[in-house]
Amino acid sequence: MLSPDQSHLQTAATMPKHNSLLRTKTSSFFSSCFLYAAGTSASFLLAWAFWSFFSSPAPSANPSFSRGLASEAALSCPAGKAGHNRSYDPPDPTFYDDPELSYTIEKTIKNWDEKRREWLEKHPSFAAGAADRILMVTGSQATPCKNPIGDHLLLRFFKNKVDYCRIHGYDIFYNTVLLQPKMFSFWAKMPAVKAVMLAHPEAEWIWWVDSDAAFTDMDFTLPLDRYKAHNLVVHGWPHLIHKEKSWTGLNAGVFLMRNCQWSMDFMEEWASMGPQAPEYDKWGVIQRTTFKDKTFPESDDQTGLAYLILKEREKWGNKIYMEDEYYFEGYWMEIVGTLESITDAYTGIEKRERRLRRRHAERVGESYGKVWEEHLKDAGYGRGSWRRPFMTHFTGCQPCSGDHNQMYSGQSCWEAMQIALNFADNQVLRRYGFVHRDLLDTSTVLPLPFDYPASDLVGGAS
Ligand SMILES: *[C@@H]1O[C@H](CO)[C@@H](O)[C@H](O)[C@H]1NC(C)=O
Repeated sequence: MLSPDQSHLQTAATMPKHNSLLRTKTSSFFSSCFLYAAGTSASFLLAWAFWSFFSSPAPSANPSFSRGLASEAALSCPAGKAGHNRSYDPPDPTFYDDPELSYTIEKTIKNWDEKRREWLEKHPSFAAGAADRILMVTGSQATPCKNPIGDHLLLRFFKNKVDYCRIHGYDIFYNTVLLQPKMFSFWAKMPAVKAVMLAHPEAEWIWWVDSDAAFTDMDFTLPLDRYKAHNLVVHGWPHLIHKEKSWTGLNAGVFLMRNCQWSMDFMEEWASMGPQAPEYDKWGVIQRTTFKDKTFPESDDQTGLAYLILKEREKWGNKIYMEDEYYFEGYWMEIVGTLESITDAYTGIEKRERRLRRRHAERVGESYGKVWEEHLKDAGYGRGSWRRPFMTHFTGCQPCSGDHNQMYSGQSCWEAMQIALNFADNQVLRRYGFVHRDLLDTSTVLPLPFDYPASDLVGGAS
């Protein structure tokens, strides 16, 4: 699906950005709730199997064991997250009952703020906490990857996002179909984000994250306070857009969008530059005339976003926050080489700080994130920092198609992904009592001794 012209993207990209021409196509409905429930029952079954295998009395013969499970189930399953009532949907009509309302990107939505507010009023158990609620959306194509290890890599990238969401209590939606058949590749996220906004009136923020981006700091959380007056947040550098007129002055592969009427209107205008729209060709010309470093003729979502920020400041730009203070997403080439020394710096802090060596339940991990911050005041944030980079984006690697930028070898992409994903996985596994000693050794872990790293790891070669 890459045209010869688009192949410029692969060879010319020098910046974090444009990730993927072949990136997203879309669709299966997987709520995180479903994943969570499936995960819970899988571990339950596993525990059950172990117990039945190793203990001679049947579990039912062990009253404390079965009572423990039962009471835990009563506490955590039916009530759901934070007391949300998932079995309560009163009969009074809401926007869902309006036959004119459409989830498709082509049809305009009006008065969405009122509609959403009315829904929340009728569902009070979801109204509490709605102001900060985040739902992550990501996805990949509907068919198997061409790259033989592509589907494995996508699975690992997805696991990374599920881990991050579980740790912070966010829901996640993974889409694998094109909701608008002509909106291929990087255009596919717009119809998906719109549909998700309608499906999740309880969420204030929709966080689109490309399939080839990985969280590499599992503790860091978005500084939402900073974005109070804005409706869209992207990683970007205002001077590169406004002065240099560079289409790589921002990255459209990761963004945070408020679930509100402004966003519905904005996406309508943004999507009007897409391949399904009558003026697609015209927009390709305008984008290339405006952003001289854009080498391929087709209109693309990232240049479209840069265009609206540059030319429609009053109408849109003032509500768009260009985040450049931390790795809202960061270019993997700049990041991966630093992960070993960052690991050493963090291990050094743990050796000095007893509180960070204390074992704890994953659910209460955010309180340890705060302890980390006390030790990271001098670490800095972006390039040159020794803080864990928040998100590492494998722009140009194309894990699914394998059609990576010719600037680097496929092998360097796949290895860098293993390093970043294992670096992240170590932060997760730590709370399960294990660690990958070698970031390039995906399959092997060692058990962590009590009080690690004040005590040493035993066994395994590095
Ligand atoms: C959910 O709402 C239903 C209907 O009002 C109610 O019967 C039920 O007790 C509620 N469940 C919880 C967990 O609040």
